[in-house]
Amino acid sequence: MKEKTTQTLGALGVRSAEQLAPLIAGLREEFERDTTTARDDVSWKAFRDAWLGRKSGVLAAITENWLKAAPTPDLKRAAGQALNELRAQVEAAIEERRRAIEAGAEEASLASERVDLTLPGVMRPVGSRHPIRQTFDDIERIFLSMGYQVVSGPEIETPYYNFEALNIPEHHPARDNMDTFYMETPPGAETRLLRTHTSPMQIRTMEKQKPPVRIIVPGKVYRRDNPDATHSFAFHQIEGLAVDVDLTFCDFAGTIDYFIRQFFGPGTKSRFRPSYFPFTEPSVEFDASCIFCGGSGVTGAGLTCSKCKGSGWIELFGAGMVNPAVYHFVKYDAAKLNGFAFGLGVDRLTMLKYGIDDMQVFFQNDVRFLRQFS
Ligand code: DAH
Repeated sequence: MKEKTTQTLGALGVRSAEQLAPLIAGLREEFERDTTTARDDVSWKAFRDAWLGRKSGVLAAITENWLKAAPTPDLKRAAGQALNELRAQVEAAIEERRRAIEAGAEEASLASERVDLTLPGVMRPVGSRHPIRQTFDDIERIFLSMGYQVVSGPEIETPYYNFEALNIPEHHPARDNMDTFYMETPPGAETRLLRTHTSPMQIRTMEKQKPPVRIIVPGKVYRRDNPDATHSFAFHQIEGLAVDVDLTFCDFAGTIDYFIRQFFGPGTKSRFRPSYFPFTEPSVEFDASCIFCGGSGVTGAGLTCSKCKGSGWIELFGAGMVNPAVYHFVKYDAAKLNGFAFGLGVDRLTMLKYGIDDMQVFFQNDVRFLRQFS
């Protein structure tokens, strides 16, 4: 029917309004059929232009060929009226289609963006704290609860802080090249080494701070040891130092006993034996009652406990009352002050606590091992 609009009414043989009516009805039907072709933005535009296009649209053709070129005034009026009605219908329907397509597109995009809450989430493997880190944290928590501060210091040290000021004289075996990593330094520069213990921070802290001092120093230390089940060239310590005007050996033993019970469990006993460290006087070695056999020296099966070799005790760490010689290096008044110090081997304490028998697993980063400490 559309193609008929390219001819004038005269050429089509239309002479009256009655003859025009079926043409208009046919166009309406065709328009309705066309409506269904407008499914998206692109097809809608083609549909709109086919009917409303200024130059080649059907309504423009009707205006040109049927209305303007109407042979009689009667037919002109009839064509004008029919055109107006058709235009109203076409415009309304095209607008209605546009809205429907827009709503549909929105629905489709909503559907495609919909989050399916029933799908399983993306599983990200969560790491765990390294057992050494956990021991650091556990020990820090215990001493923080007793009013200690946590401080840290350099891993590259001078012989003064690592040895001299700790009253470790030149001839002491700890100074030996066999035990200490010395750095290569330019000729004339001061000797540098990797600290062999966390004790230098005793000196650095007392130099900076007036008494009272209550600190612990967690950190890495280095020694020229060949790696085996109980040795590594890098390992971990926590140094402890308390200095005040009225600290006694009882405070010292009580503090350590409290720490051991907090760390290994309330049933654990502690004891100390005489020992020697240049920076403490007297020096001791603390032991804990064996956490594997409960201090009895025998296992549940009646065998000798292999962990404490039947003694019921396990060696823990060195400690002592601060040697007055140390106070002289930091210009503390040795006549007025008392203090105690201790050096915890974090790797050893971790091995004891969790029943680990090879220190190397701490450094291998095998997730099958690490996963057990989440
Ligand atoms: N610095 C010692 C070491 O690494 C451990 C130590 C022993 C530290 C006794 C202390 C102490 O503070 O009092 O072998």
